[in-house]
Amino acid sequence: MSAVVTAQDRLQLQRALELAEGGRGRVSPNPLVGAILARQGEVIGEGFHAELGGLHAEVAAIHECRARGLDPAGSTLYVTLEPCAHHGRQPPCTEAILEARIARVVIASEDPSEKASGRGPGILRDEGLEVEVVGGPEAAAARLLNQAFRKHARIGRPLVIAKSALSLDGRVATTGGDSRWISGEASRRLAHRWRAESDAVCVGIGTALADDPLLTAREPGAVRQPTRVVFDSEARLPLSSKLVESIDAAPLAVIARPAAPAERIEALKASGALVIVCDGDPAGRVAGALAELGRRGLTSLLLEGGPTLTGAFLDASEVDELRLFVAPIVIGGAGASPVAGGTGAATITDATRALAMEWERSDGDLLIRARLREW
Ligand SMILES: NC(=O)c1ccc[n+]([C@@H]2O[C@H](COP(=O)([O-])OP(=O)(O)OC[C@H]3O[C@@H](n4cnc5c(N)ncnc54)[C@H](OP(=O)(O)O)[C@@H]3O)[C@@H](O)[C@H]2O)c1
Repeated sequence: MSAVVTAQDRLQLQRALELAEGGRGRVSPNPLVGAILARQGEVIGEGFHAELGGLHAEVAAIHECRARGLDPAGSTLYVTLEPCAHHGRQPPCTEAILEARIARVVIASEDPSEKASGRGPGILRDEGLEVEVVGGPEAAAARLLNQAFRKHARIGRPLVIAKSALSLDGRVATTGGDSRWISGEASRRLAHRWRAESDAVCVGIGTALADDPLLTAREPGAVRQPTRVVFDSEARLPLSSKLVESIDAAPLAVIARPAAPAERIEALKASGALVIVCDGDPAGRVAGALAELGRRGLTSLLLEGGPTLTGAFLDASEVDELRLFVAPIVIGGAGASPVAGGTGAATITDATRALAMEWERSDGDLLIRARLREW
């Protein structure tokens, strides 16, 4: 019979959740994981999964405990995700836990991937360890921490976060197409951090032609560059665009239709771009492209517009979270673009309702984060 999860256990898990953040932008397609070893309420080791191929959080905590000259035997391990039981880039954590003779394991969230799904906790229980999988706020926080990993593990597609900068009247560009800059500098810096944390960044060809963006993560802490993805049915992206010219700095993928001119596709391929061919209506092509990007191991995608593509993603029900910078300006004009085009909901009852919404200031802008789906 397992013991009750105490307030002390929850505090240790909260600390483990903070530690897990240390891997953000570094470990994909792996999950973010933090771990604490404690004995009688005192922390004797801590660790997190810091880089792809590197030590798992549990093993990092065991090593850190021993580096302090302490023995983990008989201690409690707090970990934000169930320990793995399979051989991947690292040996199974269950083996390390058993070898360290840890007595109790408190887990904040289960791992939905096929090779995990409770196997690790089962093995540990069979070996006589006390294993708790908590519920409550720590479990919810642990699931939120790994939305990209969870969605990819469950349905094989990247998590989609749609980011836009809009005016108070909901416009993302003027009637003439000018959109630089709607949000302030702090908001744009934050967006660069989100790029660094994403496996992919995506725009439609309308934005690529209008703005000639680079879409790289220009932020000091960036350790990786996202794959830049352009939805471009006719493969019109100019070879002289910044996106193509910067292929050596970050990968580029173009989503084209089968009817795109073969010579355009070949020219883009020759420049080093990956060309993915998808058929169907706009929403169907979005779904097809996401499945293909997922197959290639991409677990998260930052959708940066414009309105036509954002509308297609919404029509395909493929937006998991919206991040909207609302700037203190009014643009006006019936021809000025809204955040999203597409078909949209027929009635208000059919409208997508956010599961949760948070807001904060970003210098002069208001940043709204709305979660539409949870994994
Ligand atoms: N404020 C902001 O946050 C923000 C962000 C981005 C853009 N913008 C502004 O938005 C304007 C551009 O907007 P836009 O709507 O013209 O551009 P967009 O959404 O970037 O691109 C739309 C184009 O993408 C192509 N496309 C390919 N596959 C698609 C699919 N499955 N679904 C939908 N579209 C697909 C279509 O052209 P093909 O059929 O030729 O492929 C479509 O016309 C610019 O003024 C830009 O500055 C503002």
